Amino acid sequence: MKDLFGTALLDYQNGNYTEDLTTSTNISEDDVLPLPYLFRSFKNMPKLEQKALQLSKGKVLDVGCGAGNHSLYLQDKGLTVKAIDISKGAIEVCQLRGVKHAEKKDVLNESETFDTILLLMNGTGIFQKLHRVTTYLKHLKSLLNEGGQILIDSSDIQYMYVDEDGGFWQDMNANYYGELDYFLSYKGEEEEPITWLYLDFNTLLTACSAVGLKCEMLAEGEHYDYLAKLYV
Ligand SMILES: C[S@@+](CC[C@H](N)C(=O)[O-])C[C@H]1O[C@@H](n2cnc3c(N)ncnc32)[C@H](O)[C@@H]1O
Repeated sequence: MKDLFGTALLDYQNGNYTEDLTTSTNISEDDVLPLPYLFRSFKNMPKLEQKALQLSKGKVLDVGCGAGNHSLYLQDKGLTVKAIDISKGAIEVCQLRGVKHAEKKDVLNESETFDTILLLMNGTGIFQKLHRVTTYLKHLKSLLNEGGQILIDSSDIQYMYVDEDGGFWQDMNANYYGELDYFLSYKGEEEEPITWLYLDFNTLLTACSAVGLKCEMLAEGEHYDYLAKLYV
């Protein structure tokens, strides 16, 4: 990957903010992802993220930490936090912002254990495809200390398939409707496309049962989004 996401974070961090990221998917047009949002403070976070931070305890792993907003908040509260991301630029930004333990790492290569594992800003996105969810959940489960919890947010995006008459236009032969091809561009360059997974709560619940995890809905957001707690 070109790491345009990390480049944009670094530009913002270094005072070179001139434009935002542009994102689109196979079912939606161009959208702006404002860089300041990726540097949000606690008070500018969605309620679901605030709740996840309030429930965090013990030794924390922030998976896909981005610019480290959640890690910094918890670190400031005195918790021990490890922040990981596959984006080199994101990890550099975390280090510049003062995250003490930030490492460029794919979550599947993580092997320490934790009391709280955070996956926020559509945390299920990292699983990429429905058929990979079990692999990720099994691995995340193996990283939990006794009594530990995984706090993860996502959305049921079925509403994106509603047509003007209120009917659904989903192709029933296609893959799971939450699997989206995701395109990102920045300053005229295009990132290699990725698959990004939105998982409705019931599908997450079923996947959790299959790997021996309990799955509890903690809160629902304003737009089909939710925060879930997974535990043994
Ligand atoms: C939507 S961003 C969220 C960033 C941050 N959590 C926030 O809320 O601002 C998703 C992040 O996950 C990272 N990521 C994607 N796949 C990953 C993986 N397998 N392991 C670790 N990080 C990953 C991406 O590089 C990106 O920084």
